Amino acid sequence: MRSFGHRSRTAQMGYDAADYRGKPVIGIINTWSDINPCHTHFKQRVEEVKRGVWSAGGFPVELPAMSLSEPFQKPTTMLYRNLLAMEAEELLRSYPADGAVLMGGCDKTTPGLLMGAAAMDLPTLFMPAGPMLRGNWGGTTLGSGSDTWKYWADLRAGLITQQDWQEIENGIARSPGHCMTMGTASTMTSAAEALGVTLPGAASIPAPDSRHSVMAAHTGRRIVEMVWDDVKLSDILTDAAFRNAITTVLAIGGSTNAIIHLIAMARRVGLRLGLDDFEELARRTPMLANIRPSGKYLMEDFFYAGGLPALLHNLGDLLDTTAVTANGRRLGENIEHARVFDDDVIRTRENPLVASDTLAVLRGNLAPDGAVIKPPAAEPRLHRHSGRAVVFENYDDMAARIDDPDLPVDENSVLVLKSAGPQGAPGMPEWGQLPIPKKLLEQGVRDMLRISDARMSGTSYGACVLHVAPESYVGGPLAFVQNGDVIELDVAARRLTLEISDDELAKRKADWQQPPPKYARGYGALYLQHIMQANDGCDFDFLEAGPPTPEPEIH
Ligand code: FES
Repeated sequence: MRSFGHRSRTAQMGYDAADYRGKPVIGIINTWSDINPCHTHFKQRVEEVKRGVWSAGGFPVELPAMSLSEPFQKPTTMLYRNLLAMEAEELLRSYPADGAVLMGGCDKTTPGLLMGAAAMDLPTLFMPAGPMLRGNWGGTTLGSGSDTWKYWADLRAGLITQQDWQEIENGIARSPGHCMTMGTASTMTSAAEALGVTLPGAASIPAPDSRHSVMAAHTGRRIVEMVWDDVKLSDILTDAAFRNAITTVLAIGGSTNAIIHLIAMARRVGLRLGLDDFEELARRTPMLANIRPSGKYLMEDFFYAGGLPALLHNLGDLLDTTAVTANGRRLGENIEHARVFDDDVIRTRENPLVASDTLAVLRGNLAPDGAVIKPPAAEPRLHRHSGRAVVFENYDDMAARIDDPDLPVDENSVLVLKSAGPQGAPGMPEWGQLPIPKKLLEQGVRDMLRISDARMSGTSYGACVLHVAPESYVGGPLAFVQNGDVIELDVAARRLTLEISDDELAKRKADWQQPPPKYARGYGALYLQHIMQANDGCDFDFLEAGPPTPEPEIH
């Protein structure tokens, strides 16, 4: 009776039994949306994935999922990453899928889709959206985000005109695809490729390039083979794969957001990845990709220079090349013949952009559970710095006062932003690159020490201490910082210290009251009840790996 319903309703969609009988069903989770500029080409690409599935003898079924459009979603897509993960998992559980293709790229879509699919553990391939083409203005190239911050500072400092700003706005994003700097999108799709869950070379292909279409069709063909070969995500997402992904993120000068996402992804498959793994690998991994915001070039240049396979090839024995990947071969076999065509864009280990320590994990009485900084993105004079705190209680407070001419701030001050973490904001937005006060910009100051429990866009730069844990909203020490307190950062010693006595800290804690929660109902309330801290990956506590979830019963 039930199968009668399935067959008759499939016929209703115009299929004959010969179209699907005996074929694996491939669920294609598509994060296309009218409101996601990074995924505009997914309407076309999904047809190319389906072409590949059909040609390999599979039956494709497109399953739309929420798009997590970075520029448009309020208050931040990070509030919804776990919701996409839940949606992806439940789509694959509740519909009849033998294998899955995940179509994502805009920042949180990559971790969200992979976290959900990891929990289902089907044969799965990730199809990255690919970076957009280089931006262009007045004969110079423009990079997503990075050049927005740069020219915004120039505009506020009176160095460019409103007309210039308008032209930059029109030229910075001129094709489909995700941000083409080494922001979170390029970082996470590269991490996915290093994990082995994409086809080799897939992450670097610019979205409008015809080779991106070819890759989409190839993805469709390969997933059908993966189903027949029963290659599951758990065969690929091993400890070695995650260490390869971390090494890759460090070598490309990737976004600090990758720390949170990779921890969450690993814990979905029962691996206890943590901040110390990043710290350990950062000490030995050189930065080889010369890409903004830490370097000079853009993702389009990176592709022409050989793309990620060439960079992985240069990393050599820093990677575990025995790791199994989705095409059925080991990582070492995939990158064996990769070549670098421009060794200024993709450096050798003998001539790196930065020799090591592209990321540092800080601890101290201000961040007992850790905080992170990207030292190469900060002015070296700030790597060891002591200054007096200028405290903003929340984002609105900062926005209202940062440009106040009477704000008691100088270039040695330490800007502190509270209530910007997973619960406090909520959603841990990318507020960590606090703007330099206008009066200091006009004096030529371009970097200051800034500390928050927020994240920072991967396209941003500066001496920004991020992900302070525990966050201020739950009573982490950041909550007790007051104007004029001395804060000391010592990157070499990996230390972040609030220079007050333990007794004074305890007294301030006793006097502190938690602000009221922002959400009393709906998804927001669920989020606030279950979100974990940054050092634990900001997953929901009930979604980490656990006993198997029963398959839905059919009656
Ligand atoms: Fe989508 Fe940057 S806005 S990746």
